[in-house]
Amino acid sequence: MAARHPFTDTDTSDEAVRATCDDATACKRFAISKGYWTDPYIQYFVRSVGERKAPEINRGYYSRVKGVNHLLDAFIRKTKCDCQVINLGAGLDTTFWRLKDENILPRKFFEVDFPTVVARKIHYIKTKPPLSKPVIETHSTDSLLLDAHSLDSDRYCIIGADLRDIATLYEKLKKFQLNPELPTLLLSECVLVYMTPAQSSSLVHWAADTFHTAMFINYEQMICVCLGEHERPFWPSNDRKPAAASVHAGGSRGLPVSGLSEGAVSPVGLGSCRCSGHGDSVQYASSG
Ligand SMILES: C[S@@+](CC[C@H](N)C(=O)[O-])C[C@H]1O[C@@H](n2cnc3c(N)ncnc32)[C@H](O)[C@@H]1O
Repeated sequence: MAARHPFTDTDTSDEAVRATCDDATACKRFAISKGYWTDPYIQYFVRSVGERKAPEINRGYYSRVKGVNHLLDAFIRKTKCDCQVINLGAGLDTTFWRLKDENILPRKFFEVDFPTVVARKIHYIKTKPPLSKPVIETHSTDSLLLDAHSLDSDRYCIIGADLRDIATLYEKLKKFQLNPELPTLLLSECVLVYMTPAQSSSLVHWAADTFHTAMFINYEQMICVCLGEHERPFWPSNDRKPAAASVHAGGSRGLPVSGLSEGAVSPVGLGSCRCSGHGDSVQYASSG
C-alpha cells in the first residue's frame, strides 16, 4: 500500500488554518479603517471594511502590529538593511510594501505560506498595479519569476510550502537564493499555534541550526493551562505574563513553553530568549 504523504494541501483541518489569514486581514483592515494605524495596501487584499470589531480586538491588533514592526525595523536598521527576512505563515501580510515605502527593504524579503494562500496573494499582486509596481521597481533584470505558486524577484520572494515539511521548505528557500550567512530575521505572527509542539520546535530548531546570525520573532496568543509535569511558565513574574506564545490545552498546539527559557540556551536551540507581553508591545507602539 502506498504511504500517504503526511501533509496535503487539501486536508480539511488545514483548510480552517488557511482561512485564518482572511480573519487576520479582515481584523487589520477594520482597525486601519478606524485610524489605529495606516496601511495603504491592505485594501487590495480585502476590499470591504467588513463588520465592526470590538475595541479590544482593534487594540489587540494595534499592539500586535506595532510590537512586531518595532522589532523587525530595529533588526533591519541594526544590520543597515544588509540582511534577509523570512516571514513564516505570512498570509496576506503587507510588510514588503511598507518597508519599500520607508526605504528600509532588506536585501531580500521572503514569505512562506500554504500554496493555495500564496496563489491567491500572487493573483492579487499580478492584477493590482499598486502591488505589482513596487515589486517591479525593486527588480533589476527581466528574469522576474511569477507563476501560480511562487514569485521571485531581486528583493521579494513568495514561496508556497508547508512549514511542517522543513526539508522541502529549505530546498525551496535555497532555490530562491536564501543565504544562511546573511543576518536573518525569522518572523512568525500567530502561526506556530497551528502546529503541534514537536512541529513548531523543529522549525525553531532548524532556524537555530541553519543561520549564522539570526533572530526569531514569535508572536502568539497564550493561554496558560494544564502545564505538564516538566513544563513551567517562561515568564519570570506575574506582571510580565506574555500575551504572546501559545499553550493550548496543555501544549497540544504551539511552541512548548518548556522550549523557552529567558536568557539561557533553550531546548529548541535558541541562543538566548526574551519574552515580551502586551504591555511591552504597547510601549513599542508608543515609542515607535
Ligand atoms: C492567523 S494567520 C496569520 C497571517 C499573518 N502572519 C498575519 O499576522 O497577518 C496564520 C497563517 O499561517 C499559515 N500557516 C499555518 N500553518 C502553516 C503551515 N503548516 N504551513 C504554511 N503556512 C501555515 C496560514 O495559512 C495563515 O496564513
